[in-house]
Amino acid sequence: MKFENILVDKKEGLAVVTINRPSKLNALNKSTIEELHKAFKALDSDKFIKVIIITGSGEKAFVAGADISEFSDFSVIEGTELARKGQEILFDFIQNLSTPVIAAINGFALGGGLELAMAAHFRVAGTNAKMGLPEVSLGVIPGYGGTQRLPQLVGKGKALEMIMSASMISAEEAKDWGLVNYVVTQEELLPTCEKLASKIMRNSSVAIAAAIKAVNANFTDGINGYNIEIEQFGKSFGTNDFKEGTTAFLEKRKPNFE
Ligand code: COA
Repeated sequence: MKFENILVDKKEGLAVVTINRPSKLNALNKSTIEELHKAFKALDSDKFIKVIIITGSGEKAFVAGADISEFSDFSVIEGTELARKGQEILFDFIQNLSTPVIAAINGFALGGGLELAMAAHFRVAGTNAKMGLPEVSLGVIPGYGGTQRLPQLVGKGKALEMIMSASMISAEEAKDWGLVNYVVTQEELLPTCEKLASKIMRNSSVAIAAAIKAVNANFTDGINGYNIEIEQFGKSFGTNDFKEGTTAFLEKRKPNFE
């Protein structure tokens, strides 16, 4: 698959997706969003890919937001459609992917950039990372899930402070707030994510996909997460991975998942 705005690098079960518009601080324009959708869809159905890392190219930015130059003259209808389509094909899509996605935040993660990182399953930041939702400074609000995912991750008070002030927080503050799991030097950012990915890869991909579904159910309106957990737990008993995992334990050996 050929892309103009992103790079996809695959090795030993891991895929690294890099948003590659450094001259625009990797801002998300329409075609980048579409390319990311295609790449994530293909990687999720690639049975050799067990974990995906998403990051930005260059030293300065993960993603500095949605591409402001593309929507500055949009109407109400176009604005609504922009958010709806983006949420559907990228942000919700990533959150609901069966393959785990780790965001490696290598600089500014602003607006749609922070929303993209929050749609990933968890986040690791470089010491130089700066995060914020500056949309109200532009007369708009976060439209790619930021008003929902930020309070889920940091609580309502901190989320509203961040959204209303439009200000940025440092990587260390983001860690204190629970927005990122680890803060490491820029050089250690990808290696750290790769180490985390290799721990994940040892486990059953089928069970991990079920766990993602059950955890996401906790944040889906009108769905009883406990029921989804019971359903997914029960389904596990019908998988080869369950047979292999439990047999390997009883035989005192490492499991060999499909
Ligand atoms: N959309 C479109 N272009 C963007 C962009 C965005 N969200 N963020 C940065 N860029 C572009 C700039 O226009 C500039 O392009 P140019 O060189 O063709 O003029 C280039 O990226 C470099 O950005 P610049 O502002 O010169 O870098 P800086 O180091 O002075 O400032 C930021 C960095 C991140 C503070 C600043 O770029 C910024 O505030 N960006 C917008 C953040 C934002 O509001 N995001 C939410 C969008 S909803």
